[in-house]
Amino acid sequence: MADGTTKTAKLTIDGKDYDLPVYSPTAGPDVIDIRKLYAQAGVFTYDPGFTSTASCDSTITYIDGGKGELLHRGYPIDQLAEKSHYLEVCYLLLYGELPSAAQLEDFENRVTRHTMLHEQMMYLFRGYRRDAHPMAIMVGVVGALSAFYHDSTDISDPWQREVASIRMIAKMPTIAANAFKYTLGQPFVYPRNDLDYASNFLRMCFAVPAEDYEVNPILSRAMDRIFTLHADHEQNASTSTVRLASSSGANPFACVAAGIACLWGPAHGGANQACLEMLQEIGTVDRIPEYIARAKDKDDPFRLMGFGHRVYKNFDPRAKVMKQSADEVLDLLGIEDNPTLQVAKELEKAALEDPYFADKKLFPNVDFYSGIILEAMGFPTSMFTPIFALSRTVGWISQWKEMIGDPQLKIGRPRQLYMGSTLRDYVDMENR
Ligand code: SDX
Repeated sequence: MADGTTKTAKLTIDGKDYDLPVYSPTAGPDVIDIRKLYAQAGVFTYDPGFTSTASCDSTITYIDGGKGELLHRGYPIDQLAEKSHYLEVCYLLLYGELPSAAQLEDFENRVTRHTMLHEQMMYLFRGYRRDAHPMAIMVGVVGALSAFYHDSTDISDPWQREVASIRMIAKMPTIAANAFKYTLGQPFVYPRNDLDYASNFLRMCFAVPAEDYEVNPILSRAMDRIFTLHADHEQNASTSTVRLASSSGANPFACVAAGIACLWGPAHGGANQACLEMLQEIGTVDRIPEYIARAKDKDDPFRLMGFGHRVYKNFDPRAKVMKQSADEVLDLLGIEDNPTLQVAKELEKAALEDPYFADKKLFPNVDFYSGIILEAMGFPTSMFTPIFALSRTVGWISQWKEMIGDPQLKIGRPRQLYMGSTLRDYVDMENR
């Protein structure tokens, strides 16, 4: 909870004063505690979209939108992306500190040994159409984990919470890769214990039984970095979905499935797929002005995908790292003059020079460049959001563990500003 030294905010309603406690966090804005407001003053606060509402206190991730800073347990994302790797970041998010060498080795061994799925689950994939979107498969299969791993669904048992956490982090790449293979009509490729997390995922996605598959270290490093850049991000829509679902005591597998469903939307995690499709639709640099004009046109629902953010009013630091990585990966892969990357860079430049975007503080976000790397790695756009979901699983789980461990946990139950009909009697058909 916020520190004990509270200030107070004075609220006056109908001539009556109410003193509301104000808490000062370790970083970010003060918060006004309104938990007793309705009981004391008989009023609700009103904040659709939660633009000014802190839904919880947390110690996991902090974003300074003005500076374009993202910290995981205090460590900046650019340093983690450069010096750490995904499973170490998972450990940091889950347990709060960077691991010792022994702790990291133990954690990586535990994750590695949970990567296989119950064999019966393979039949679940086969119930989908082959042209199903991999996100539709992930939502279903992740929710079904609670039917197969019932021994880690009792959230009151810390040991079961720990096992469920490891199982989800370990099995998400296998589920995502199986969803991909199924839509390709290719056989599932099983995980291997002698490969690191990112290499295992690439092999499960791209290996075929007909030949050996050698993981390209450039691709596995880029893949691991993409996982790290998407790991957690405060109380975003999908994390808030997981927290709200978990507040009822639902099992963690079902709650993460709800998070995956929320992430799928194009305003959220689905933006990486929508952004690449937008860049491909623009096609050439000379068509950029037409799309900039459409994005500015109030009467046109078109928005620049991969641009803008609720919190960042400066560069999304993940987009900066992703842009550097896109240049590196395409260069190392010998992909020169990638037209999509060219359009992305020119579009970013044109938008940032345009007063509309500058005035509204709209900058590229994490989704603007990620698709270019993923496409260069051989993934279809339909796999972009599943990769985001795979990466974000540790964030959802870390936030879930933090919430479930809070002795003050209450079920989330917002109120409303009701603008519908007041009490009226039923009207029989003959009198309508
Ligand atoms: C993610 O929350 C997170 O942390 C999410 C995320 C994470 O890691 O979990 O960072 C991942 O979801 C990144 C965002 C991916 N979505 C997109 O790229 C889709 C395109 N962007 C937008 O739809 C929008 O910017 C949002 C949804 C990201 C943020 O929307 P907000 O904060 O609700 O802002 P808004 O819609 O009220 O927009 C403010 C103004 C509006 O104009 P006015 O009504 O004030 O005149 O800016 C305009 C908007 O029309 N605007 C855009 C725009 N984004 C906002 N105009 C054109 N193109 C855009 N992309």
